[in-house]
Amino acid sequence: ISLSNFAKAIVEREGKNAEELAEDVKRSQFPDGFLFGVATSSYQVEGAVHEDGRSRSNWDVFAHTKGNVNNGDTGDMADDHYHRYSEDIEIMHSLGVDAYRFSISWERVLPRGKFGDINPAGILFYNKIIDNLLIRGIEPFVTIHHHDLPQELEDTYGGWLSPLIQDDFIHLAETCFKNFGDRVKYWITINEPNLVSEMAYERGTYPPARCSPPFGNCSAGNSDVEPLIVMHHMLLAHAKAVKLYREQFQKKKGGIIGIVANTFMYEPLTDNEHDREAASRVLAFNVGWCFDPLVFGEYPPEMRHYHGNELPTFTSEEKQLVGNSTDFLGLNHYTTLYAKDCIHSSCSCFLSSCFPGADRAIRGFVSTTGIWDGVAIGDPTGVSRFFVVPRGMEEIVDYVKKRYHNKPMFITENGYSPPKSQEEQFDDLLHDIKRIEFHKAYLASLARAIRNGADVRGYFIWSLMDDFEWVNGYDVKFGLYSVDRTTMNRIPKSSAKWYRDFLHNISLND
Ligand code: NOJ
Repeated sequence: ISLSNFAKAIVEREGKNAEELAEDVKRSQFPDGFLFGVATSSYQVEGAVHEDGRSRSNWDVFAHTKGNVNNGDTGDMADDHYHRYSEDIEIMHSLGVDAYRFSISWERVLPRGKFGDINPAGILFYNKIIDNLLIRGIEPFVTIHHHDLPQELEDTYGGWLSPLIQDDFIHLAETCFKNFGDRVKYWITINEPNLVSEMAYERGTYPPARCSPPFGNCSAGNSDVEPLIVMHHMLLAHAKAVKLYREQFQKKKGGIIGIVANTFMYEPLTDNEHDREAASRVLAFNVGWCFDPLVFGEYPPEMRHYHGNELPTFTSEEKQLVGNSTDFLGLNHYTTLYAKDCIHSSCSCFLSSCFPGADRAIRGFVSTTGIWDGVAIGDPTGVSRFFVVPRGMEEIVDYVKKRYHNKPMFITENGYSPPKSQEEQFDDLLHDIKRIEFHKAYLASLARAIRNGADVRGYFIWSLMDDFEWVNGYDVKFGLYSVDRTTMNRIPKSSAKWYRDFLHNISLND
């Protein structure tokens, strides 16, 4: 089957192309009570890294090490959200969002983890955010851990690589539940454990930068087993925090708690059986790695089959603890990639064309790429291998719906960053038609999945404003608002106006 046939098949299956679908989308097509929001995370927006008792985080150390981040950028200043949170909440209010997803800086609230005391200034900061949000009628949607942690926990016992981190994480979670739980009704334990395990322990491109050949050349690490161990600790930490929440807080005060995974969609490169198997295998290795244990109490059978004893096991008590330990599944979804079988045919791809979510499956089993014979699966964006593939939203939601018996879902992130070429003029950056088209098309696709019965309860745009995009620094821009890096002024892009109109259910055709 040729690519054009493959593409035609997709268009036929959808009935309409992406542009036609995008025309249709309206807020009124989403169920009552559906939450629309924007998302950020602490290290990416707060800045103020030396203020009010915050300790040094793993990302401070990493970003300050030469060569790790584009242009030598750091989160020292980020968007100065620490001082401008109230202006930012005003902006959200003017957009008309229902919810704001943000994360707690571990190093601000518990600067030394369990080795030290709670930092009252850290608690005060998040209390101010939460109270300001509630005054404006915006629901706080809190991520307890989104990549950044006190460097001391890395230095003392090795961070997520050590089982000791579980107690530290539970202490953080409990501190959050106790201090914020009277007002916060939506909790996410950990953001993208599947991506962190790979980036930080397989490829070495996130702190603590551990890896081994052929994935990368770090000074320490073992790409074969460490990502598996780290994920195991994250899943156990999640489950223990959820148990605590359910027993001590949820019963008395309500609220829900879940986890967020990075969820790429994968389509078979060709229609042949082996590529189709490869696509389903890589989905299990990416999405299933995180969600299967939390629903079924076991890692995906596909992973057990290929990894054997390298993959940790849960004891029977742990199975009880981990299984059914999430009230909802959070999906960060940006793109779709092709999956190609590498068992029955040879793959020239290794790291250059194989990508996240697939790495564990890549070892000779599957290669993924968004490009086939020079033709991309969708338009490029500012992040390599993030292509614009709106149908993927419906496909991933459908996949999660089927695999996990329609457990409630939130789309906790979805967003667009323009490729460098579109960034040449500031005007183009502000007049971001491509971003508007992206959201309309992805929302139309999501609306279709919901019409087909998927229990999706919310959608968050990444991001409110341009921010510190990890290794890409400030070069990659996902915001509805641009941030002037000298004055720190927030400047609305056309997409901010579009989101406001969408949320107020106003369209040009009305
Ligand atoms: C996922 C992460 O949660 C977020 O921190 C990141 O900036 C976006 N995706 C964009 O890549």
